[in-house]
Amino acid sequence: MSAARRAAVIGWPIRHSRSPLIHNHWIAEHGLDATYEAVAVAPADLPAFLDEVRAGAWAGCNVTAPHKEAVLEAAEAPDEAATHVGGANTLWGEGGVLHAATTDGPGFLAGLDETAPGPIGEALVLGAGGAARAIVQALRARGALVTLANRTPSRAEALAEAFGARAVAWGDLEAAAAGADLLVNTTSLGQAGKPPLAFAGDPIARLPDHARVADIVYAPLATELLLAARARGLVGVDGLGMLLHQAALSFEIWFGVRPRVTPALRALVEDDLLAAS
Ligand code: ATR
Repeated sequence: MSAARRAAVIGWPIRHSRSPLIHNHWIAEHGLDATYEAVAVAPADLPAFLDEVRAGAWAGCNVTAPHKEAVLEAAEAPDEAATHVGGANTLWGEGGVLHAATTDGPGFLAGLDETAPGPIGEALVLGAGGAARAIVQALRARGALVTLANRTPSRAEALAEAFGARAVAWGDLEAAAAGADLLVNTTSLGQAGKPPLAFAGDPIARLPDHARVADIVYAPLATELLLAARARGLVGVDGLGMLLHQAALSFEIWFGVRPRVTPALRALVEDDLLAAS
């Protein structure tokens, strides 16, 4: 096999990434002569690894914490969305040039469109970290009005300024929910081992009847936020769709074919998540 058909996800530590399971499923489905592996890359080793990507030793790689910002800085050819987000999750090399893109935001929207399509006039986004930046960029690119709320208000205000959004206090979520077509949790709250989201008041009760509620957390799949939304009769969208669709968009960049996100793939990853829980 040519070395150029190797792909990877890099992080430090790399923990139990589902990306190899997902990408190797598609590699097999498409009969590609390729592999996808998880590689632990310490910050000090990142420049040397990126030189390998630049030189074409890898078909490409995904990037997770803590490298998303550093790889963007190192890339000679970042795309516009990644530049705006300030981070990248997808890299590849061409003629000695390091390209960087972000598929997190488009992956989020693709997962949402798959499960709960519909116009997004106004979105209420919880959190102001890297995941929030990617999702807010994609929502704004689709023309949605975005309202942000974060535990640390200054971070929400800075993000609102950067993306033409509006920031509200965490305590004002109820009022902000009343006009939202979509509520998104971009924090890690609700993830196994972390506390659930805690609100002042009940923003879920104030959402319009057509609103959708999305969570980027996928372990567990049914977070307390989604359970509360479904109990109210709203559509709840779990974080697995974003995980699968951001992967599909990266795969397409490297291998030139858009892989399908099928119920069988979803079941494969769900089984893996259950086995780990
Ligand atoms: P990522 O890049 O993965 O999005 P991050 O930059 O650490 O991660 O951001 C995590 C988000 O979760 C932030 O919005 C953070 O709020 P702060 O900006 O106030 O830190 C939010 N978050 C984490 N723990 C929280 C908690 N216990 N309560 C409320 N928000 C929390």
